[in-house]
Amino acid sequence: MKISFWTLCLLSISLTSVGQQPTEFSIIPQPVSIEKKGGSFELNSYSIIEVPDKTPDVQRVSRFLAQQLLRSTGFPIRVQLAGDPKDNRGTTIAISLNRKPDAVIGAEGYTLEVASSLVILRANQPAGLFYGVQTLLQLFPKEIESASLVKKPYWTVPGCKIMDYPRFGWRGLMLDVSRHFYSKVEVFRFIDDMVKYKYNVLHWHLTDDQGWRIEIKSLPKLTEVGAWRVPRVGRMSLMSAPTADEPRTYGGFYTQDDIKEVVQYAKDRFVNVLPEIEMPGHSMATVASYPELSGTPGTYRVNSGEKFMNWHSGGFDAIIDNTLGPANEKVYEFAEKVFSEVAQLFPFEYIHMGGDECAKNFWNKSEAVKQLMQKEKLKDMHEVQSYFVKRIEKIIESKGKKMMGWDEILEGGLAPNAAVMSWRGDKGGIEASKLNHKVVMTPNAFVYLDFNQGEATVEPPIYANLRLSKTYQFEPVPEGANAAMILGGQGNLWTEQVPSLRAAQYMIWPRGMAIAEDLWSPKEKKNWNEFVVKVEKHFERLDVAQTKYARTIYDPIITAKKSKDSDVVVTLATEIEGLEIFYSWDETHPDNFYPKFTQPITLPKDALHLKVITYRNGKPMGRQIDITTAELKKRAGVK
Ligand code: ACM
Repeated sequence: MKISFWTLCLLSISLTSVGQQPTEFSIIPQPVSIEKKGGSFELNSYSIIEVPDKTPDVQRVSRFLAQQLLRSTGFPIRVQLAGDPKDNRGTTIAISLNRKPDAVIGAEGYTLEVASSLVILRANQPAGLFYGVQTLLQLFPKEIESASLVKKPYWTVPGCKIMDYPRFGWRGLMLDVSRHFYSKVEVFRFIDDMVKYKYNVLHWHLTDDQGWRIEIKSLPKLTEVGAWRVPRVGRMSLMSAPTADEPRTYGGFYTQDDIKEVVQYAKDRFVNVLPEIEMPGHSMATVASYPELSGTPGTYRVNSGEKFMNWHSGGFDAIIDNTLGPANEKVYEFAEKVFSEVAQLFPFEYIHMGGDECAKNFWNKSEAVKQLMQKEKLKDMHEVQSYFVKRIEKIIESKGKKMMGWDEILEGGLAPNAAVMSWRGDKGGIEASKLNHKVVMTPNAFVYLDFNQGEATVEPPIYANLRLSKTYQFEPVPEGANAAMILGGQGNLWTEQVPSLRAAQYMIWPRGMAIAEDLWSPKEKKNWNEFVVKVEKHFERLDVAQTKYARTIYDPIITAKKSKDSDVVVTLATEIEGLEIFYSWDETHPDNFYPKFTQPITLPKDALHLKVITYRNGKPMGRQIDITTAELKKRAGVK
């Protein structure tokens, strides 16, 4: 058949319009609309950023962009006023606020036009300009992420027109700095990484059983005692108990000056900081500092990873009481002091008071709690906790703040104005939203970034799994919820098994990209296959930025089932399309000349290991996973 030139043209037009988005743009989160334009913009050493006037926030965002560009390009891009003389060899990035607000894009949206010698970025508010800058940076070649000079005569950005705004106003990441401590500089880096994906809330989990991390001037022992534990590696909760005199050298805390710096650093990047001060459970570091706050007289120590809680199918009991005594007036005096200082330090409207996983077994035995129940007519331990939470809400509100807590605060009756963070699935969020309380959705099955993201036997040890593809299915408005009350959602990084910033990055990326898209992009613009293509491009950007990330999307998924004949049958799969899986049973390392997985395989007699690796276009992609046949039998439920 002879295909004419015009047929070819038509074919290529229809092919490009099949995909939702032009493929050369790998923007995460996916913008509301993006249109490819001809030509491209070139940034060179004469280029400038032009602003209409001296509005400080516009100047600040412009300087932020200039600094990012300087780092990698080395071009001394000046921020100058429109009308100031410019070199006609240069190109212009024009940044301005809309004189007349654009009703479609709201407070955080922006429009961005990239043409041959001019980029025009506009927004209603400075935050929108900041997000437009993040998008513009993603349009540059990956080397723009370099922290050191990359010599190029000019840098190209493809011509396009983008209109964009977020689906939700609360786009958070939680960092637990209690189980492991992250320095102030590491927190800056955490913020740098999150804003690239347009996150705007840092939920800072500052206190827990393993460390109190915020200086409270009126309660110095919280950091003198509560910030320090015995160093241990291994699996938290299975670590060996410290001896009485073992040096407590692991830990640290943020001084109030540090906190102010972090808050300012975040604010400059349009990030609100939500402080979390955990109570009444998860308070071992508190009672180690001030034992009189416990309802159970004794001496306490900051937990160093040794077991102190019994988890069982029906729930949990504390072996050592790690709670604040709800019938103890000193606790409320303590809360008054803590929240007074916390409220001064954090400008954000919310303070999180925890409220999750509070063991009640010591309360059950307490005479003081019994008397409190009689006096206040509380019929069970849920109502006792609810009494506690309501009193804390009054204290927090007296400081001019709103209170937020984990979904356990619904039990026994929700405090009058409390906002709820729904983590045990959707249920708490649905219930709270129907009661007209504000809700942030963080269902653990979709957004818990401490869960492993690949094959359990090679990932850091943890009790649950959450793959990238599942995080991409996170829908922040669950069925049955009152959507108007859902502020948004966030990914939570608990750090029992995350001892360093590098390890934190590994847990967050790329799943943090998926959650960013869940929270920012229109639901109908999400597309898993297109997302994966973008993620692979972003891996290259993270490499340049020297940010660690998990490549678990390339690893095989290994499942084992029992057949009718009680054989163990193994199935191999991959999370993304386009990978081939090769394997061996003979204790040698497989490559792409080994058997290729095409159908379920029966475990051969006497085999010791299954070794599996994925390839694409003749190149190894995933890690080689070696799994014992004993583990395969366990998975299949075969002895
Ligand atoms: C939680 O994960 N315990 C809130």
